[in-house]
Amino acid sequence: MTLRTAPDQDIVVVGATGDLAQKKLIPALYNLHTEHLIPNHGNIVGVAPMDWTREHFIDHARDSVKQFSRTGINEERFEAFAKHLQFVPLGADSDLKPLHAALTKQRRLIYLAVPPSAFTPLLEAVRAADLARGTSIVIEKPFGHDLKSARQLNRTLHSVVPEERVYRIDHYMGKETVQNLLVFRFGNSLWERVWSRDAISRVEITVAEDIGVEERGPLYEEIGAIRDIVQNHLFQVLSLVCMEPPVSFDAEALRNEKVKVLRSLHTVDPHSVVRGQYAAGTVGAEKVRAYRDEPGVSKESTTETFAAMRLHVESWRWSGVPFLLRTGKRLPVRDTRVVVSFHDAPLHLFREVGMHAMHSNRLVIRIQPNEGISLRFSAKEPGPDVRVQPVDMDFSYGDSFKTSPPEAYERLLHDALGGDHLLFIREDEVEAGWAAISKLLEEPPPICFYAAGTWGPEEAARIAAPGRWHDPDDPDADT
Ligand code: BG6
Repeated sequence: MTLRTAPDQDIVVVGATGDLAQKKLIPALYNLHTEHLIPNHGNIVGVAPMDWTREHFIDHARDSVKQFSRTGINEERFEAFAKHLQFVPLGADSDLKPLHAALTKQRRLIYLAVPPSAFTPLLEAVRAADLARGTSIVIEKPFGHDLKSARQLNRTLHSVVPEERVYRIDHYMGKETVQNLLVFRFGNSLWERVWSRDAISRVEITVAEDIGVEERGPLYEEIGAIRDIVQNHLFQVLSLVCMEPPVSFDAEALRNEKVKVLRSLHTVDPHSVVRGQYAAGTVGAEKVRAYRDEPGVSKESTTETFAAMRLHVESWRWSGVPFLLRTGKRLPVRDTRVVVSFHDAPLHLFREVGMHAMHSNRLVIRIQPNEGISLRFSAKEPGPDVRVQPVDMDFSYGDSFKTSPPEAYERLLHDALGGDHLLFIREDEVEAGWAAISKLLEEPPPICFYAAGTWGPEEAARIAAPGRWHDPDDPDADT
């Protein structure tokens, strides 16, 4: 798909001085601007509850590009970018009327890069400031806190703008390697023939992080790993792995198939879930504190920083196949991957020559880092005896394309500006995701502790039994 310059409009980032804007949005807008992919004539307006001048905001933007842009900073290009920057302080009453003075176009994209508690007041402020007409809204996750609040938020959103002008972001959908799941599955005729319970024995999806909650303690306390990662990033990857081929590659056709997967998830049984929280430990060479000692976190907190669960997708294709989902902070490494295990060969021919254990075929889709795909199969070790070894056929993005994947936020911002919904989450998808975990949210299992730098609490092993988890730092792990 060729990216085109988005139609003329202003871009408004509410929460422009926050973490997300600093680390992701401003650098992404800068890179889109240098690549001529955002409107040439509109303004980029930062809105935040600070008494900043425009110059102050430009300095802040320069710092954030310097620190976080994947391409670094080019001063000349930054000057051209900065010409578009404006800043509007937001008063305590969230009045957005002063925004009018900074707008130059009939059309605008308003990005709500704010904590969830601010969504509703800001949406109401958009309407009260008479800005609803011509506005599209980009809204960050978590979208609601549970099914009921997500439905309420959808109603509030639709009272301001119609669904066609809503872009619910899950930045995993902006990752090249996540989009590649579609091309891998539907751009090759090979996989479809084995992509079902007939050939696949189980699927494991891990989103592991080595970082802790960083400065987000107070916010994370309200959310936890299930709302932060499972309900959105993990469910998005799961739906791409499980969906039926869409009738075309347009937003509605794709999202129709994704939502079917989420609807066919059996309501997650709390007994099939392990919740964990990190205690003090060592990650890499660094000694790190316990979650309960992080700033802004209660000493008695029972918020989970780890979750492992076993799910079933009740569809013709997947009936009986266990899907194991796992995420955690302060795990040994940062690694997101999908591991697809295939059934064992039906007949173990090599037993007669003394080979007892055979390795099953396994496909590993590395979402990040070291992006790529590998297929494990058995091969005969050279020599007079029949010795079988598992070997890997490997594809690496870096080696094949000589480039590292671009930032997810660049693609998503570009698509929202251009009105393309393909990679955004539809109203019914969000609700189906919440519905699948509603019982779990009502009856969360108790917290089990794990030392930072390990693969989560020991109890998580029972979720993977009778096999075991394929830890990314243990390439030999086999079921
Ligand atoms: C965010 C979560 O959505 O994703 C964070 O709120 C998490 O807690 C982050 O750290 C992980 O993103 P990535 O792209 O580094 O996998």
